[in-house]
Amino acid sequence: MNRPLLHQRFPPLGDALPHLRLGQAPTPVRELTGLTCSVPVWCKDESGYGAGGWGGNKIRKLEWILPDVRRRGARTVLTVGGLGTNWGLAAALYGREQGLSTAVALIDQPMDEHVRAQLVRLRRSGAALHRTRTKRRTIAAVPWLLLRHTTVRGLPYVLPAGGSTAVGTLGYVEAALELAGQVESGEMPEPSHVVTAVGSGGTAAGLLLGLRLAGLRTRVVGVVVNDTLRLDAPVIVALAGRAEKLLRKRGADFPSAGLAPEDVTIVRDWLGPGYGHATAECERALSLAATTASLQLEPVYTAKALAALIALADDGRLAPGPVLFLNTYGPRRS
Ligand SMILES: Cc1ncc(COP(=O)(O)O)c(C=O)c1O
Repeated sequence: MNRPLLHQRFPPLGDALPHLRLGQAPTPVRELTGLTCSVPVWCKDESGYGAGGWGGNKIRKLEWILPDVRRRGARTVLTVGGLGTNWGLAAALYGREQGLSTAVALIDQPMDEHVRAQLVRLRRSGAALHRTRTKRRTIAAVPWLLLRHTTVRGLPYVLPAGGSTAVGTLGYVEAALELAGQVESGEMPEPSHVVTAVGSGGTAAGLLLGLRLAGLRTRVVGVVVNDTLRLDAPVIVALAGRAEKLLRKRGADFPSAGLAPEDVTIVRDWLGPGYGHATAECERALSLAATTASLQLEPVYTAKALAALIALADDGRLAPGPVLFLNTYGPRRS
């Protein structure tokens, strides 16, 4: 398959930043004509991005992370997530294909059918699961977890929730460059805003940096769905800045993106009682997406993001449009 756009744009990265293609690019864009909103709404659909057509946004991150794990000679990935972690499952399954083992510390979240099904998949994935239950207990368990997963071959490669490191963030720098190509070719108009869920920040941060590098004026609107991490504009911009520094350190030559917290909009009003708690707005958005746009969302991330998009558009806060909804959910059906 073809080289990633980041490598095409900055050729020295080709040797310095290994990449493993796991999905089919570009992901499709389409107008959601059934969604009656005050501005036109488009969708970039990441749901089919990954081997076998499942995966969503984490696969973009793993395309950069997994080769980095190999480059550092690690054999095990140690990460963390909620009981229904899409991230932990993707890391376990895609890592396994690269001969890596995965350990996941699991933090409690409200139990529903979706979470229960994810837990079954996690158990089947072969990952070592440690039910640490709370953020505090997870942090306290880190020395033990490190020791437990250190072998003669070395320390585990530690990844934060959602894989939102500088390396993982490159996945959405790449996706933003891809979007710019779709705008340039006339596949869709340049959006005034792109709306995405913010669970650990890598998706929003990568988009922010990538859109700036691509020269688009599209503003990133991040809808916070996780109350267990600090996820405000300075944090997102700092992560984008670390990704920018990484690109430059590995040989990319470009003027400073000069990102500042004012360059991104972060909203928290659609979180509800907390991470994984469904809200009436998100339930409405979930069924609206299914009935009017044939979009399968889930209640933890994407339905909250779409609920925010609809409300913000109705308030005139996404004018002039069009608005792009990033569908980051890639359901695994078995
Ligand atoms: C379906 C889905 N959408 C959005 C996100 C949030 O992305 P990020 O963690 O990069 O903020 C996640 C994170 O796991 C996710 O699983």
